[in-house]
Amino acid sequence: MTLTLVPPPVTSRAVAGPLDVLGVPGQINLDYAATAPCARAAADAVAELLPWYASVHRGAGALSRRCTLAYERARQTVGDFFGARADDHVVFTRNTTDALNLLARALPAGATVVTFGGEHHANLLPWPRGSVRLPVPDGPAEAVRALDAALGELRRGGTPGRELPVLVAVTGASNVTGERWPVAELARVARRHRARIAVDAAQLAPHAPVDLRALDVDYLTVSGHKLYAPFGAGVLVGRADWLDAAPPYLAGGGATSHVGAATHDVRWATGPARHEAGTPNLFGAVSLAAVCTALAGADRAALHDAEQALLARLRDGIAALPHVVELRTFGPDAPRVGIASFVVAGRDSADVAAHLAAHHDIGVRDGLFCAHPLARRLLAEAAGRSGRRDLPPTALRASIGLGSTEEHVDRLLAALATLG
Ligand SMILES: Cc1ncc(COP(=O)(O)O)c(C=O)c1O
Repeated sequence: MTLTLVPPPVTSRAVAGPLDVLGVPGQINLDYAATAPCARAAADAVAELLPWYASVHRGAGALSRRCTLAYERARQTVGDFFGARADDHVVFTRNTTDALNLLARALPAGATVVTFGGEHHANLLPWPRGSVRLPVPDGPAEAVRALDAALGELRRGGTPGRELPVLVAVTGASNVTGERWPVAELARVARRHRARIAVDAAQLAPHAPVDLRALDVDYLTVSGHKLYAPFGAGVLVGRADWLDAAPPYLAGGGATSHVGAATHDVRWATGPARHEAGTPNLFGAVSLAAVCTALAGADRAALHDAEQALLARLRDGIAALPHVVELRTFGPDAPRVGIASFVVAGRDSADVAAHLAAHHDIGVRDGLFCAHPLARRLLAEAAGRSGRRDLPPTALRASIGLGSTEEHVDRLLAALATLG
């Protein structure tokens, strides 16, 4: 079967051009939070560079030099887009999971990591034993209070300047509820307790500007495939010192400045190269940079308003269906990005997702969204709030972004209405 790729109808004039997304006619993609569709900017950047495709950092020919330049320019563009400081490193990875694992491997000896139970597994599982996992808070203010108390406890009795390192690792926006976390406030608390803070921006960056310096955070992680650049790259941006002192994430070619004859006669490079051994993902980096450039030139406030209007339509529609219950952590009015999770009472979520795909050409996600502790807690909360005893043990998630339309949302709501 041959599929023709055409852009779906766009919701507003603001998303025409490089921020058009590709799609398949008739298919309604409401699963952006898992993987967003490809932006025209990303596809064009790849198409333009494809004829030149050659090695990166490994050749003297014109093709290779152009690819090396494109890769390093992409690093600069991505770093600038996320507000990297002059001395930060911008390390290309495979995705957010890879970026957080790299950061976990770069922790100095004795470091303690503090997270909340509301995180995606990518920000729960890489951290070493002895990490502190705070309970899921009821709201942003509670998150700030809980972090303050936990860091105060960790620092009790210590001497400033001679304390063990602490890293706080939080999400910018929940992949389950879309709710935004109070990153700037949490960063201020971390600073006050002489802790560093890493922000998992996998879900926030596709929906809102994220700037390391403005938020005063130390590290940021992002996935290209959630940011309309589906070519397998992610990024870790942040403080150079831990990264330069850590063992290389991958050992191999490109990560060394000297390799002698003896087995252990190796000097590792500093800078991003230390953690990027092997031939890098050129198109991943270039496509991510192309989307960053397109977003930097867009009216983000207008994009945000359009998305919020669609999200409100979706959530109002869900609230109006008596057999559908939304999942939430912070309450109905908390600021959130274009994600809504819910359950259909009396229906298995996997069956509902399969039904939506088979009969309505609608793609959503079902399950516990790689955030099992949070999703289970929210399912129990939804059962208590709704008073229903027939809620399923897993949930459904609809997520929107560039190219999503009122028609997409309405078609989902109409399909859900038939399941009552
Ligand atoms: C908040 C959050 N963090 C991390 C990840 C992991 O992203 P990836 O699968 O691209 O590594 C996800 C993926 O859904 C996510 O939503």
